[in-house]
Amino acid sequence: MCGIVSYVGNKDNAVEIVFEGLKKLEYRGYDSWGVFAPGKPNFILKKVGKISDYEESNWPKGSIAFGHTRWATHGGITEVNTHPHYSAHHKVIIAQNGVMENYSEVKKELQKKGYKFITGTDTEVIANLFEMYLKTQKDLKQAAKSVFDKIEGRNAVVVYDLESRKLLGFRNGSPMVLGVSKEELFLASDVAPFIDTTQQVVFLNDGEAVLIEDGKYEIIDLTSLKTVHRTETVLEISSIANEKGDKNSFLEKEIFEQQFIFKETLKQDEKKVTQIATVIKNATMVYCIGAGTAYQVSFWGAGVLQKIGGKQAFPMIASEFVSQKDFLQKQDVLIIVSQSGETADTLEAINAAKEKGLKIISFVNVESSTICRQSDYVLLHRVGIEKAVASTKAALAPMFLYYLVAEKMAKVKNNLSKVTSLLSKYVNKDLEQKARNLARQIYIKENMYLIGRGMSYPIAREGSIKIQELSNIHAEGIAGGELKHYAISLIEEGIPCFVIVGEDEERKHILSNAMEVKARGGLIIGFDDQKNDVFDHYFPLPSLGILKGIFALIPLQMIAYHLALFRGCDPDYCRNLAKSVTVI
Ligand code: F6R
Repeated sequence: MCGIVSYVGNKDNAVEIVFEGLKKLEYRGYDSWGVFAPGKPNFILKKVGKISDYEESNWPKGSIAFGHTRWATHGGITEVNTHPHYSAHHKVIIAQNGVMENYSEVKKELQKKGYKFITGTDTEVIANLFEMYLKTQKDLKQAAKSVFDKIEGRNAVVVYDLESRKLLGFRNGSPMVLGVSKEELFLASDVAPFIDTTQQVVFLNDGEAVLIEDGKYEIIDLTSLKTVHRTETVLEISSIANEKGDKNSFLEKEIFEQQFIFKETLKQDEKKVTQIATVIKNATMVYCIGAGTAYQVSFWGAGVLQKIGGKQAFPMIASEFVSQKDFLQKQDVLIIVSQSGETADTLEAINAAKEKGLKIISFVNVESSTICRQSDYVLLHRVGIEKAVASTKAALAPMFLYYLVAEKMAKVKNNLSKVTSLLSKYVNKDLEQKARNLARQIYIKENMYLIGRGMSYPIAREGSIKIQELSNIHAEGIAGGELKHYAISLIEEGIPCFVIVGEDEERKHILSNAMEVKARGGLIIGFDDQKNDVFDHYFPLPSLGILKGIFALIPLQMIAYHLALFRGCDPDYCRNLAKSVTVI
């Protein structure tokens, strides 16, 4: 979602640095962008559309700047609503990530005091709050505390005080990280904008601010206004992950990285895996949650805990989990899947669980993200930055983690390294060509169905998510058994139906379902370890029991990718979606 990049340093091309940094945040999803730099006169640029479409060779000089990518929440997608926003009398200028939930009441209060508003945003309300508090309070720190106390919702804010020339950022629910190099400071929503320059960082916690003045920074607790002493962390992320390499898109690059990347995923601390397995085994109830793709992975993971680990587990959509709050008990466990580690719905679920004393286990990609810091046990995906909005490698990695833990619970010898070696051969150009050929044949269709049973059902659902978000075709993942209850009425001549074939009993039943669809004219695309006459197209899978599902996701990702290309969609930026969903 929205992204912030700020720069204060010894270089005189701060605006250009911020502009380039914003490009590295493009993957989060946005619809407009803007940059500010103080000077004589101050520089401000706001644009609707893609940053990469904008060209400028004559940026103003200066050593301070900040910018923002906006994913519209309050107010339409216009230049006027694009951040940064000045306060009414140009005392401060700010950018915000998140939503100020009580903005309408506060706006009315400010209007009564004579403040005029020119945008439809909640951000302008925060700017004017700063201006109002700065009139009566000692300094920017004090004003930040008052603003922080006043606003509700999940937010990260960066503010520049035009009088004192100080820059301050604070967070409550939305991420903010400080990058520190010898003579430069970066304050951003994630590390991507500055990781090429420095890997030394300080992650802000909720309720903390960072004040940047004379090239130095101070972390402040906004409750006490005392300085927080925190050591800087050195990240292990390589800057290479920021680039597409020889591929045409980040999505293509990330799909192909699945050839080798999961060897890293399996390099987990044995002791930690054992601890997690024990905690799950001893739990009364086990809830497996995530949002979107992460939920489908959790759904699959709950099945793995049951089938391999011998423990009953309940999958739940993160945003629905809070409805369970009254029934949660201290001995229950919550298992989270999240790529970004910043998903607001998932964080709300964690808060509800923590209030009841549950243990939190997380499988997360972004190291030191909020979810990591809020969890009792964390296993990292270890697949590097994922930049395409549609999740691929970061969806498969936690499936391996679930399996690893379940094997530990069952005390069976881990054989996943054989699986990752098989995968390295399975992900190849021939498979991609096959996916492309199929996509060429079906991309004009407006509806598609994917069916599965048992462990193959979440795989069908995840395949439908990839097709929807990448190609904007209506695709639905349906439990095979449900077809006859409603969805069969939608089947007509030539409609593509992807059949993800499971094991044992499931196999027999799903193949019957495929027959029923074919009898009504459906085009059957089968995914299995054996050919079948019912299939019009066949994608072979290795015979790996329930792990077959992991393999089925690869051709599904490739098909969705090529459907996107045939339909003229940008595979890296899905329409209206954001990579890191920090609003509820
Ligand atoms: C779809 C996709 C989303 C995310 C969801 C949760 O490809 O990526 O559905 O899975 O927004 O995000 P994380 O995993 O960051 O919690």
